[in-house]
Amino acid sequence: MIAKRVQAIAPSETMKISSRAKELQREGKSVISLSQGEPDFKTPLHICDAAVQAIRDGHHGYTMNTGNPELREIICDKLKEENGLEYTPDQIILSNGAKQSIGFSLLATIDPGDEVIIPAPYWVSYPEMVKLAEGKPVIVSTAFDNGFKMTADQLRDAITPRTRMLILCSPSNPTGSCYTLEELKALAEVLLEHPGILVLSDEIYEYIVFEDKHVSIAQAAPVLMDRILVINGFSKGFAMTGWRLGYLAGPASIVKAVAKIQSQETSGPSSISQKAGEAAYLSPRDAVTEMVAAFRKRRDYLVDALNRIDGVKCFNPGGAFYAFPDISTYLNSETPSGDRIRNSTDLCLFLLEERGLAAVPGDAFGEPAGIRLSYAASMEHLKEAVKRLSEGLAALKKE
Ligand SMILES: Cc1ncc(COP(=O)(O)O)c(C=O)c1O
Repeated sequence: MIAKRVQAIAPSETMKISSRAKELQREGKSVISLSQGEPDFKTPLHICDAAVQAIRDGHHGYTMNTGNPELREIICDKLKEENGLEYTPDQIILSNGAKQSIGFSLLATIDPGDEVIIPAPYWVSYPEMVKLAEGKPVIVSTAFDNGFKMTADQLRDAITPRTRMLILCSPSNPTGSCYTLEELKALAEVLLEHPGILVLSDEIYEYIVFEDKHVSIAQAAPVLMDRILVINGFSKGFAMTGWRLGYLAGPASIVKAVAKIQSQETSGPSSISQKAGEAAYLSPRDAVTEMVAAFRKRRDYLVDALNRIDGVKCFNPGGAFYAFPDISTYLNSETPSGDRIRNSTDLCLFLLEERGLAAVPGDAFGEPAGIRLSYAASMEHLKEAVKRLSEGLAALKKE
């Protein structure tokens, strides 16, 4: 017997496509995967060295449930220096990744039936985590022409007396969009009219930006500081996905509530990873800069190539490592074997099975008109992927 709360949630669509791609690869088929959600770089060596040293130095035991005070202190310094935000160590809780911090934050703040506004396209886990917390996801569709960013008017229209939280993700997974200071200020003005609403600001892609420096809504609206939950971590910016290290910075009362859940569910994150995290924040960022430069080059290539494909349009994402082209002109088309492409999932399955290209359907992110292509892949793979995509689309008979 499986509990109702599990029956109500969907498995991660992104993982579904990657597993199918791996299955085909195991069968010996050539598959180019642009479905991955992690950098194709290794963790910088000096961070690995710090972890090895931590093992040698005997950092083998449990740490504090909220994480090592040293690292929380370093995170406060980082937030002050890089983001202009004032936090004290009791306002920081480390976790086994941003994902855990988001999940526990929702469990700590959402009561059954509370509404959580999620702009779409959204990261796949938000609505499912809200449902696990017995809240109600309220999905707000955003426009391609606005770079898939929610406007102040859209936010105002979505608010009801039951609204408890807004989830923002900038730079965004899956679109790569980044909110500007002005756009965040406009959203904050609406929130000021509604004192009961919290903001969960997922900033995990903070360092992977190509034009402007990342801005947090906490910077845009310091008056909202007592209801903003900043989520961040080490996975993307330092290529440390497997180390499982993230954190929440927020009001002390909410951090305390999250700590209560964490103390019963997982305890603090790995002692070794925390030492690695210290090295990541304290050392020069050359490796990060190099990685971002590589992502920028690939983005420039991919977005240009996508816009050259008949019927495809893609805006230039300002951050993360995803392109989210609009492929809606191919919906309702017919495959060479006579099957109908009813939605972006059908399209991605066709591309995977027939052309050996793995992409994630926009359906998984609440935006059926798009597909997500990750450019955490080599230039060579990107070029082959573009070839497979354009040939695959050209084989479809439009209505
Ligand atoms: C938007 C977003 N938030 C959070 C996470 C999870 O990050 P972590 O590896 O720190 O759990 C991801 C990872 O894919 C993500 O894309």
